Amino acid sequence: MHSHDDSRISLIFVDENATIALAQRLAAQLKPGMVIYLHGDLGAGKTTLVRGVLNALGYTGRVKSPTYTLIEPYHISGLDLRHFDLYRLHDEEEWEAAGFRDEFDGHNIFFIEWPEKAQGLIPQADVEIIFEILTQGRKVEIHANTEMGRQCLEQL
Ligand SMILES: Nc1ncnc2c1ncn2[C@@H]1O[C@H](COP(=O)(O)OP(=O)(O)O)[C@@H](O)[C@H]1O
Ligand SMILES: [Mg+2]
Repeated sequence: MHSHDDSRISLIFVDENATIALAQRLAAQLKPGMVIYLHGDLGAGKTTLVRGVLNALGYTGRVKSPTYTLIEPYHISGLDLRHFDLYRLHDEEEWEAAGFRDEFDGHNIFFIEWPEKAQGLIPQADVEIIFEILTQGRKVEIHANTEMGRQCLEQL
């Protein structure tokens, strides 16, 4: 299922393989500096998408959810990726103390789970992916908020 305008796509994914297929297409469109927000409840498929992207880029190690470390860095296929899971971020002081601000150097590529926990601290998203759990499968909406995001979306 597929509906389209130039800044939004809505999809229904029947199983995890569909999420991984999207991850593979997204991996081919990543550009330095890109910021991708991942929205959705626990178990919606946010980490599955990031794992799919990393595997598509050739990463063969374990992709674990950065539940306690909040961030996991990856260098693969010439790209520097940062996977954030901010579910357990407490406040701005923790953010500053961890030095996360310095990560946003215009070069690193970000996948950010629970971006609402760092509102005002992180740059706006180029692309936002919103997962909704259905009785079977997931509804997935992809929004582009910037020119970089729109170009990414057009190629998906
Ligand atoms: N499209 C899908 N349909 C059904 N199950 C899915 C789909 N995508 C992922 N899953 C499953 O749902 C779970 C998602 O877990 P995870 O990716 O860790 O979620 P999150 O990071 O959003 O908390 C995994 O068990 C995965 O196999
Ligand atoms: Mg997760």
